[in-house]
Amino acid sequence: MPKASHILDRVLVLEMVRVTEAAAIAASAMVGRGDEKAADAAAVEAMREALNGLDMNGTVVIGEGERDEAPMLYIGEKVGRGNGDSPAIDIALDPLEGTTITAKAGPNALAVLAIAEKGCLLNAPDVYMDKIAIGPGYPKGTIDLTKSPTENVKALAKAKGVKPKEIIACVLDRPRHEKLIAELRGLGCGIMLIPDGDVAGVIATSDPDTTIDIYMGQGGAPEGVLAAAALRCVGGQFQGRLFFRNEDERARARKWGIEDLDKVYDLKELAQGDCIFAATGVTDGSLLEGVKRLRGKMTTDSVVMRASSGTVRWVKGEHRIG
Ligand code: FBP
Repeated sequence: MPKASHILDRVLVLEMVRVTEAAAIAASAMVGRGDEKAADAAAVEAMREALNGLDMNGTVVIGEGERDEAPMLYIGEKVGRGNGDSPAIDIALDPLEGTTITAKAGPNALAVLAIAEKGCLLNAPDVYMDKIAIGPGYPKGTIDLTKSPTENVKALAKAKGVKPKEIIACVLDRPRHEKLIAELRGLGCGIMLIPDGDVAGVIATSDPDTTIDIYMGQGGAPEGVLAAAALRCVGGQFQGRLFFRNEDERARARKWGIEDLDKVYDLKELAQGDCIFAATGVTDGSLLEGVKRLRGKMTTDSVVMRASSGTVRWVKGEHRIG
């Protein structure tokens, strides 16, 4: 069990939910409106305002992009109204994970963030990451990103005591996954193809109700760190390896201090020590319900978890309108 952080104690765990709630509520006004940018902008602004109300010296280590490309919540931005005594916190955030989903009113859009002590979250550049994840309860080393999908599915099936064809995999529905999907179909696996939102896809492996056994494929590296922080809290195994499409992306990684570009990261290398993960549903999904706008009020559904204690709190919110 990771050691509890006194620094994180000083930032109320539930305050994190208020931050993701604010972003989710703002984004929810744009659900189904066909405008990804406006949905994202609303979430970013609301999350930033909520973070700036907290007593901490926060630094965004995973955010909306680099300073010259993102006006708010850019990497390196300082947030919080902390003074000299306030804790120094690193923050990985995605005010709207699933911008396209939100614009199309699809499932599983979330407002998410993870916090940890300074230096504990991988400063992942905005590139792709090859990912593999399973839920808790399997022997260490059941999955291995350097092995083929077939080998991983067979190892997982053996550990679960089922046949490979009984394994259900979650994969982002992308042309780049054609080969992976064909290989999984060749094994007879069930495949849940998701249009977007692989933070929820990875976390789904830890919830037996989703029936998803394994997450496989390539998604965003920042989303990989956020998902790893969540799995650190609920248990499970995850490995990620950065994937670069060109020299510019490699240079960006080096700029953020990443030397070994082929490294396979495990959970603790992506999110070390104690960490807190919080998410609020924007649209209904496998993890959380979306924001409901009712007469006179809005309801929110959130989760906040902590690695050191393994505590998972489900938070239902009612917010008066007007
Ligand atoms: P956005 O919210 O930034 O649109 O990201 C959604 C998402 O589906 C992530 O969950 C995933 O990691 C990434 O995009 C995959 O990237 P791509 O759409 O380029 O395949």
